[in-house]
Amino acid sequence: MTLRRGALVGCGFFARNHLNAWAELADRAKIVAVCDVDGEKAASAAADFGIPAFYTDFETMLSTEKPDFVDIVTTAPSHRALVEACARHGVAAVVQKPLAPDWEDCRALVSAMDKAGRPLMVHENFRFQAPLLRAAEIARSGVLGEPTWGRFAFRTGYDIYKGQPYLAEVERFVLLDIGVHVLDVARVFMGEATSVYCLDQAIKQGIKGEDQATVMMRHANGAVSVSECSYASRQSPDLFPQTLIHFEGTKGSIRVEADCRLVVTSPEGNFTEIAAPKPLSWGGEPWLLIQDSVVSTQRHWLDSLDAGSEPATSGHDNLNTFALVEAAYKSIETGGPVTPEAF
Ligand SMILES: NC(=O)c1ccc[n+]([C@@H]2O[C@H](COP(=O)([O-])OP(=O)(O)OC[C@H]3O[C@@H](n4cnc5c(N)ncnc54)[C@H](O)[C@@H]3O)[C@@H](O)[C@H]2O)c1
Repeated sequence: MTLRRGALVGCGFFARNHLNAWAELADRAKIVAVCDVDGEKAASAAADFGIPAFYTDFETMLSTEKPDFVDIVTTAPSHRALVEACARHGVAAVVQKPLAPDWEDCRALVSAMDKAGRPLMVHENFRFQAPLLRAAEIARSGVLGEPTWGRFAFRTGYDIYKGQPYLAEVERFVLLDIGVHVLDVARVFMGEATSVYCLDQAIKQGIKGEDQATVMMRHANGAVSVSECSYASRQSPDLFPQTLIHFEGTKGSIRVEADCRLVVTSPEGNFTEIAAPKPLSWGGEPWLLIQDSVVSTQRHWLDSLDAGSEPATSGHDNLNTFALVEAAYKSIETGGPVTPEAF
């Protein structure tokens, strides 16, 4: 197995999960340098994770270190420039979600990596969460038949503004922040959508964007789904960061309930099982489900590089998810159903 040399850019709130996950995968990849425009953050990430070099300028890091891949953990406004720099330097890249703030930047950065002939994966970790991976495996086995209906729900009142204060300032908020995840999961179970209708709500005072969105979709095979995204739900216990699923097929159904409980109804028998993540020395509640999926996402990236295959959440694949987000915002504007762009 090849030991790959990675470099990471963006040493903020979420990068700690990436760096811990790279440490879990140390026999396959070594992070040789980190970069942040804030030198203190870069220095402290390097010190905490035993990384030999840190930088405040991304292109200097690329020219000096010549890494095999870059892990981009900055917020969306910087993604296009950073991915385009990777393309210029001929370096493979994994980039956090959302891919970019808007459609034009998404297409431009995917196209830049296409032209450079280098792999690009979006760090879309929700479909790599333990219960969702297992539920998708059961759905894909065919035992539940063809998809007919689905509900995908992420509802919480968890104080996400504490760790990520910039979220209060984002004008296109819940659909871009959590909708990309939930709509991506909906695609995994239901296939591509042909029609998107969305109603949004702004509930919390003092933030700029919508904090609740309900998206109804018709899928290519005629199935119907509802995706719910809320940062404004009051419920006890709060299930952050769990996504609950109810998937129905022509032969059976599966529900992903609270605390990773799967409930399966199928002609081959009904059963329940728990598909929970294993504990991590560096992880902890409520983030364990996500932290475990960060390791799985990064493992998938290395598997794809080793196999020379397109990652499941490649830039191209993620354009299909982003198209649903754009269609949802357009539906909010027009008040009617919208056909998403197809690739
Ligand atoms: N998948 C998940 O569960 C999940 C959870 C939280 C955050 N995220 C994503 O992770 C990304 C980062 O979020 P965060 O909360 O860590 O943000 P953050 O603001 O805490 O950290 C981002 C860091 O990037 C640095 N930066 C910005 N532009 C740069 C540039 N051009 N060169 C070098 N450094 C630069 C900033 O100085 C900052 O330290 C976001 O895209 C967010 O959506 C994902």
